[in-house]
Amino acid sequence: MYAMVVDHVGERERLHRVDLPDPEVLPGQVVVDVKAVGCNFSDLLMVEGKYQLKPPLPFSPGTEVAGVVRAVGEGVGDIRPGQRVVAMLDWGGYASVVAAPAAFVVPLPDSMPYEVGAAFGVAYQTAYLALTHRAALQAGEVLLVHGAAGGVGLAAVDVGCALGARVFGTAGSLQKCEVVMQHGAEACFQVDAEDWVQAVNRASNGRGADVIYDPVGGTTFDRSLRCIAWCGRLVVIGFASGDIPRLPMNRVLLKNISVVGLNLGAYKAQEPATLVRSLEALFRLYERGVLRPEISASLELERANEAMALIRERKSVGKVVLIP
Ligand SMILES: NC(=O)c1ccc[n+]([C@@H]2O[C@H](COP(=O)([O-])OP(=O)(O)OC[C@H]3O[C@@H](n4cnc5c(N)ncnc54)[C@H](OP(=O)(O)O)[C@@H]3O)[C@@H](O)[C@H]2O)c1
Repeated sequence: MYAMVVDHVGERERLHRVDLPDPEVLPGQVVVDVKAVGCNFSDLLMVEGKYQLKPPLPFSPGTEVAGVVRAVGEGVGDIRPGQRVVAMLDWGGYASVVAAPAAFVVPLPDSMPYEVGAAFGVAYQTAYLALTHRAALQAGEVLLVHGAAGGVGLAAVDVGCALGARVFGTAGSLQKCEVVMQHGAEACFQVDAEDWVQAVNRASNGRGADVIYDPVGGTTFDRSLRCIAWCGRLVVIGFASGDIPRLPMNRVLLKNISVVGLNLGAYKAQEPATLVRSLEALFRLYERGVLRPEISASLELERANEAMALIRERKSVGKVVLIP
C-alpha cells in the first residue's frame, strides 16, 4: 500500500508518497481497499498544525474514504469482505488501504459511486446535524448559508431545501452563486460585492433569517448579526476566513437569539450512534434523489498537493476527491 504523508507540520508543508506494509487486521477493525478519498478543509488545517487533532508525525491526513472491505477483524459481525463501504477516520485517509474501527464503517448504497461516497459524509453530516439537531430548522423558515458553494455549504443548501426551508446563500463569485441556485437556493449573494444583509432582510419582509449556518466566520459572522430574525439560531460551523469572531452579547439578548456550535468530529466520542444514524438517514435521502453531491475535481491520490491547493485557493466548488 502507499500513503501521502507529511513529515512536519506548517503552512508550506507538502505531502509526499511513501510505500508502507499493509495494515494488520486487528480485532474490531475493518481493512478497506480505498477507491476514493474525500478532501476537507480540516485536512489543510491538520497539515498546517492548526487543527484540534494533532497526529504524531509522520502522518497522512484524510478523514473519509470509500472502498471495498478487504478483511474484517475478530468480533466484527455486520461487515463482510467484498462489501462496498465508507469509513470515517480521525486521519490517515490519503492512502490506498486503511484500517478503521468497525463502528465507523457503514455500507455504501448500491446507487452511490465510490467518489460520491467519499465526498458525502463530512459535508452532509455536518449540514444535517447542524440544521436538525442544533438549529431545529423548520419547513418554511428562512435559512442563510455562508460559504454556500463550499463542501459543507452546498450540503447545507441541499439539506435546507430537503427540510422545506427557504434557502439563501453567500459565495465568492457569480459562478459559485449560480451553482448554489442550481441546488435550490432562492437567491445567492456575492459576499464581497453585494449588500447581502439588506437583501436577506428585504427577502424576509424585514424579519431576517431564522437560521444562519456559518462555516466562514470573521466579518461574515459579524454582519450576520444584522440580518438574523427574532429567536433566530446562528450555527457556528467553522472559520474558513481564518478569523475567529467575537460575539457582542447585547446582540444575543436584544434579538432573543441562540448561537450554537456543531463539532462533527466530537460526535465519534460523544454520540457515536447519532453520527452513524445521521449518515444512514442521509443515504436514504440520497437514494430518493433529494441530495445532489457536487464534485468539482477528482484527481489521482499522488496529486494530493494540488487537491489541497484547490481548497486553499477557494477554487473548488462542492468537494474535491482523490483516487488511489
Ligand atoms: N464544525 C464541524 O464539525 C465542521 C465540519 C466540516 C467543516 N468544518 C469547517 O467548515 C469550514 C468550511 O469547510 P469546507 O470543507 O466546506 O471547506 P471549503 O469547501 O473549502 O469551503 C469553504 C468556503 O469558505 C469560503 N471562504 C470565505 N473566506 C475564505 C477564506 N479566506 N479562505 C478560504 N475559504 C474562504 C469559500 O467560499 P467563497 O470562495 O465562495 O467565498 C469556500 O467555498 C472550514 O473552516 C472547516 O474547518 C467544520
